[in-house]
Amino acid sequence: MTDLTDFDAIEPYVLEQIRKTQAPRQWIDWESSDPKTPQSRAWFAEQNRDYAEKNIPRRYAAATTDDTRIHQWVLDVVTNPDTARSLLLAGPTGTGKTHMAYAALRLSAEACRPPFWRAGSTAALLGDLRPSANRDSEALMAKYCNSTVLFLDDLGAGKSSEWTEEMLYRVIDHRYSNLLPCIFATNHAPSELAAALGERTASRLAEMCQVLVIDGDDRRRTR
Ligand SMILES: Nc1ncnc2c1ncn2[C@@H]1O[C@H](COP(=O)(O)OP(=O)(O)OP(=O)(O)O)[C@@H](O)[C@H]1O
Ligand SMILES: [Mg+2]
Repeated sequence: MTDLTDFDAIEPYVLEQIRKTQAPRQWIDWESSDPKTPQSRAWFAEQNRDYAEKNIPRRYAAATTDDTRIHQWVLDVVTNPDTARSLLLAGPTGTGKTHMAYAALRLSAEACRPPFWRAGSTAALLGDLRPSANRDSEALMAKYCNSTVLFLDDLGAGKSSEWTEEMLYRVIDHRYSNLLPCIFATNHAPSELAAALGERTASRLAEMCQVLVIDGDDRRRTR
């Protein structure tokens, strides 16, 4: 697994571009290099490594990508979080969408402060939001709504209902309204999303997302 404390592990192109820009306030201060100082590179790297280890599923723990569209997106998110578009990775099963999304998260999380992105399947999000005596679903809703970056996998994969449409709408509308970057992955073509998620959610996704179509064979069957 790549050592996230090793900043040389960041794609050199992305790192070079980040260094050239003036990072906005809420992102890492690249000038501070004392490892004991909170806000130094080493301090953030440590935080990010711990968070990534706890939150990236093991299959994708070492995911990397050489796709320059992902590098460009990471660069946009890190340098211009208010204007960066979200990403919609669309394609058939097994083409590497989830792998690519975790690679993008690892890259962007290394430069992001705080590093607390959230990631998981849409089904898991809906599970968290289902009212239960054992958890505060509104507090969890707030976490999904306000995380620095949100990755929602398998969008539109489950059976939808009025309730699931409403919950997804709340999360996506909040992130849309507040210009918060997201990554979505789906097996649907973008033109099918309105039928799967409702017209209002699909309309917001159309405006907020750059679509990357990930084609190819099912990698699970071609090993
Ligand atoms: N660039 C890559 N390099 C090496 N392995 C990869 C790469 N992309 C994907 N894989 C591997 O291929 C398999 C399928 O990838 P992944 O789970 O990302 O597919 P997916 O497009 O998300 O599929 P689904 O639509 O079914 O969720 C996984 O085992 C993953 O680790
Ligand atoms: Mg997937």
